[in-house]
Amino acid sequence: MTGSTRHTVLVVDDDPAIRKVLSLGLERLGFTVRLASNGQEALDLLTSAGLDPDCVLLDIRMPILSGKEALPKIRGLFPLTPVIMLTAYNDLATGLDAMKNGAFDYLVKPSRMEHIADVIGKAIRYREIMREKFELDRKKEEYRLSLERSIESTALELNETYRKLKTANMQTVQALAETIEAKDQYTQGHCERVKNLSLKLAQKLALPDGQMEALEIAALLHDIGKIGIPERILNKSGPLEPEENEVIKMHPIIGAQILSIVELFAKAVNGVRHHHERWDGQGYPDGIAGEDIDPLARIISLADTFDAMAQTRPYRGALPMETILEEIRAQRNKQFAPEVVDAFFDARLYEDYLR
Ligand SMILES: [Fe+2]
Repeated sequence: MTGSTRHTVLVVDDDPAIRKVLSLGLERLGFTVRLASNGQEALDLLTSAGLDPDCVLLDIRMPILSGKEALPKIRGLFPLTPVIMLTAYNDLATGLDAMKNGAFDYLVKPSRMEHIADVIGKAIRYREIMREKFELDRKKEEYRLSLERSIESTALELNETYRKLKTANMQTVQALAETIEAKDQYTQGHCERVKNLSLKLAQKLALPDGQMEALEIAALLHDIGKIGIPERILNKSGPLEPEENEVIKMHPIIGAQILSIVELFAKAVNGVRHHHERWDGQGYPDGIAGEDIDPLARIISLADTFDAMAQTRPYRGALPMETILEEIRAQRNKQFAPEVVDAFFDARLYEDYLR
């Protein structure tokens, strides 16, 4: 190493003669040399005086603070600065020991100046490589952090967009549900109550989270198919003729067809189509039974029937609660899925209607 870039070497030795020899020799080779006579002085130069040498030559045996004691302190404060230990010819074990503790190398005193310069040159190259690696690691870490931050903010934005979309979607569903109620004068608030009761039943039944939104949509829109039924039939106050009944029975099919057009409603389609099916297979429009009936439909079926019985209808007034509960219990395994009836009674969901 010629020292053409003026590398700085800190020489730490308590022997003035050695400091002198090393100082002259290294300066002649082009190094800038700084001197300290013990470990403490060296540390003061490195910390208070802000010296940033390319390499430290550190004598092992010195008063006040020995090289052995100073080494871990220097390594701790300046991990990228290579430290070369200076050791007496009869103290090789200490030199090797120092290398185990983080010294870059050791030199036996007296050494030829060329050899000293060679070891210092290697140490400085090592320092440069370590600095580059350190800088690379720092940049990598910086990049990783910025990536993490941008992923985090993108995720937040996506969540917010999803939330807004979901709200807008539910508002559309709500508006659709209200159009049915506007058509059928006896069903004011029915869709909303069926939705609320269905969600409570679903919670009691521990329906998977992913199905809750579909249930909410299907419950609100279970009668959307009534849009296709003439109002004179829907609002007829007397008993329906058999053919009028057949027309009414079309509403789950019409509703399912309407929902199937909108991709967002895909999971709610069967909940609407099957909300008049019965556990015993005697329902409509498909006459399917038991587990073949969509789980959402099983829930909506009970919520719908319960709310209808609890409200005034064209052909009758609201039924007393005892009669309603008796009927629901009687329809376990007949009209209704047993687990839904059980959830209804276990969670005492009829109590909300008593208030
Ligand atoms: Fe219906």
